[in-house]
Amino acid sequence: MSDWLGLRDARVLLVGAGGLGSACAEEFVAAGARLVVADIDRENLDRLDGALGLTSQGCHLLQADLRKPDASEQLVRDAVQLLGGLDAAVHGIGINRRLPVGELSNEDWLEIIDVNLNSAFWLGRAAGRVLSAAGGGRIVYLSSVSGLLAHQHHAPYAASKGGVNQMMRVMAAEWARHGVMVNAVAPGYIATDLTNGYLDTDGNRQKLESLIPAGRLGVPADVATAVAFLASPKVTFVTGHVLYVDGGRTLV
Ligand SMILES: NC(=O)c1ccc[n+]([C@@H]2O[C@H](COP(=O)([O-])OP(=O)(O)OC[C@H]3O[C@@H](n4cnc5c(N)ncnc54)[C@H](O)[C@@H]3O)[C@@H](O)[C@H]2O)c1
Repeated sequence: MSDWLGLRDARVLLVGAGGLGSACAEEFVAAGARLVVADIDRENLDRLDGALGLTSQGCHLLQADLRKPDASEQLVRDAVQLLGGLDAAVHGIGINRRLPVGELSNEDWLEIIDVNLNSAFWLGRAAGRVLSAAGGGRIVYLSSVSGLLAHQHHAPYAASKGGVNQMMRVMAAEWARHGVMVNAVAPGYIATDLTNGYLDTDGNRQKLESLIPAGRLGVPADVATAVAFLASPKVTFVTGHVLYVDGGRTLV
């Protein structure tokens, strides 16, 4: 098996076992990485294990609610212990509620910011401390084209992803001298549990496809390839970037 990304035996903490997290897990396992996968949802973890046989290949599945700072700290400690160190951390969790600004409740705003942005800070801070002290590593965030474009009915989601992008850039600037490269992958619409309900309503799938120069929606593997690249130890001088994986959606 070719190891062009240098990920064989890399120790990776992957947070998120949903549609995109699962595709990333598949990509990392195929590249020979050793994984800890964490998610709040036991069923998603078990489904992923059933699909990829992760635990039988020495990977570890941990249930954790990443909204809590202590849980992120503990998760990073557990990953370091289970893997014997850490080379990369991927933040791939998120939620969305598509409502006009005037119809969003206080709870909608707070929950979306909590899951999408606060957890990104808790996890990145915990992982960055470990990686800096160890002399280097990679942190990859799953952002979104919504961090750039002003999609209607996306106010808290867009704010959270714009926040992730800027937070990521500051982390990248602070930790570059310690060999920690911090980047984000920003997908356009990809069919997963996060988006299927919306895509299946009112011809939204066709409307969105017509806005994408590539003429199709993305698939999870499109995103996983970019995540694996940015998690690679061979990517030694690329930091603070938002890599759009959107078929050209943000070009037009
Ligand atoms: N699917 C897309 O089209 C798309 C596009 C752009 C960006 N993204 C981003 O990619 C990431 C992954 O999206 P997805 O499509 O896989 O979504 P998904 O809904 O399929 O999976 C999200 C996962 O996050 C987990 N999660 C939610 N709250 C959590 C918490 N508090 N602690 C731990 N885990 C929690 C869920 O259990 C789920 O497994 C998100 O950040 C999302 O915003 C997705």
